[in-house]
Amino acid sequence: MEFSVKSGQPEKQKTHLLIVPIYEPRRLSPTAEKINVASNSVISNLVRKGDLEGKYGQMLLLQNIEGFPAERLLLVGCGQISEMQESQFRDLIFKMIATLNDTNSLEAIFCINEFHVKNKDNSWKIRQIIQWIHTAFYRFDDFKSKKEPVRKILRRFIFIVPTKRDHTVAERAVNEGVAIAQGIELTKNLANVPPNICTPSFLADKAKKFAKEHAKVNVAVLEEKDMAALGMGSLLSVTQGSNFPAKLITLEYRGARKDVKPIVFVGKGITFDTGGNSIKIPPHMIGMKYDMCGAATVFGVLEAALHLELPLNIISVIPSCENMPGPNATRPEDIVTSMSGLTIEILNTDAEGRLILADALTYCERFHPDAVIDIATLTGACQLALGPYASGLMSNNDQLAHDLSQAGFDSSDKVWQLPLWDEYHDALKSDFADIANVPVADIGARTIVAGCFLAKFAQKFPWAHLDVANTATLYGSKRGATGRPVALLVQYLLNRCKAL
Ligand code: BES
Ligand code: MN
Ligand code: ZN
Repeated sequence: MEFSVKSGQPEKQKTHLLIVPIYEPRRLSPTAEKINVASNSVISNLVRKGDLEGKYGQMLLLQNIEGFPAERLLLVGCGQISEMQESQFRDLIFKMIATLNDTNSLEAIFCINEFHVKNKDNSWKIRQIIQWIHTAFYRFDDFKSKKEPVRKILRRFIFIVPTKRDHTVAERAVNEGVAIAQGIELTKNLANVPPNICTPSFLADKAKKFAKEHAKVNVAVLEEKDMAALGMGSLLSVTQGSNFPAKLITLEYRGARKDVKPIVFVGKGITFDTGGNSIKIPPHMIGMKYDMCGAATVFGVLEAALHLELPLNIISVIPSCENMPGPNATRPEDIVTSMSGLTIEILNTDAEGRLILADALTYCERFHPDAVIDIATLTGACQLALGPYASGLMSNNDQLAHDLSQAGFDSSDKVWQLPLWDEYHDALKSDFADIANVPVADIGARTIVAGCFLAKFAQKFPWAHLDVANTATLYGSKRGATGRPVALLVQYLLNRCKAL
């Protein structure tokens, strides 16, 4: 799909299809009004007959209107003007895409200025529409022997704006929206690959290929012996039961001067989480191929950053391994020594994400980061806390937490902060080691307690943790990766560039 911006008068465009809103009660948008006048009241006649009132969700497709150069006109009912919420706008756009796709229009022009969404500007609307169109046409059928053909007639989607000034803003938004959508697509494609194929080596190979394709990106892959030499006993304890070798992948993007401190992303890359010897029950194991969504996210963010040529230094660190049970696997009550020197009593081998992230966070110290943000499908409890709408945010730095929250609202890929108070830290006291990986006695608050565990390994830099166990994948009857929180993190980077 090709997205672009045009400035000019919408009613004068020779195109396959023009999209304009109509509001309640029977209020035509400025462009609809002009078309109405030029066409001897075609629209107001229909409105009078009751075919269209402007109710939210109503759609009416008109063809071959006299005095109007476009082949088709799609009138979209938007309800009360200035009352549309963002979720309503999203549902409306999905419905509109389905309607468009049923016509034979290769090209559609969308009157972006005439669609009003509460507290949202053109730039937001454009970025979101591009992402939603990508979502609507997304399929993952690499592993189907017979691919169902997708009806995808629409080729060009054009946002029309009245002035040159609007044009510049809109063009930037298109560029950002396309970059984000591409990042999301890469993330989904990686995350959806089955765990017999998407192994730590598979991710390492993807990283190497990624670096080869992009001159500004360097890659380094640490093997188990390298990790052992660094003292990463915590990370290595998780891979013990697997036949696949663990990898610690680092991708470095240099978009700024050498001396500019990098932003470091750390993505949890468990390619399958059985729970290890603290094995999961079968229904809980379904979906655990998605335990590398954090890793997939950092790939997507880098892809978007490259497309946008962001003037920042970004490093992505991916600790990757598989969590399997068996005679070689870690037992509950084993004690291991992490790279930081802290000893950890592993009371539950299913709390493995924090174990690999602990050493990955310590490893980040060498980059003298400006900020470290980890992304992890860390706790099932995050779904209980926040449902599927906001990712969990925990941080040791108020400014960073604020910036991420803001980026969440700007991108509609929202986060909500949870506290990391001392009381919660107390839950991780161990009788025999420096800390335990889970509380001996459950206090609840599992998302927060996991965050507290990570915080112990992130004391040397501003750090934020995103628990995306509730947002990285779909729920219910439809399975699949969502590509979250790529949009959030790209927005965070874009906002940082604005502040430069
Ligand atoms: N990968 C899981 C978390 C998860 C659960 C992600 C459901 C997505 C959906 C993680 O490794 C895990 O097993 N966490 C445990 C922690 C517990 C043992 C303290 C959990 O959430 O139950
Ligand atoms: Mn687990
Ligand atoms: Zn896990």
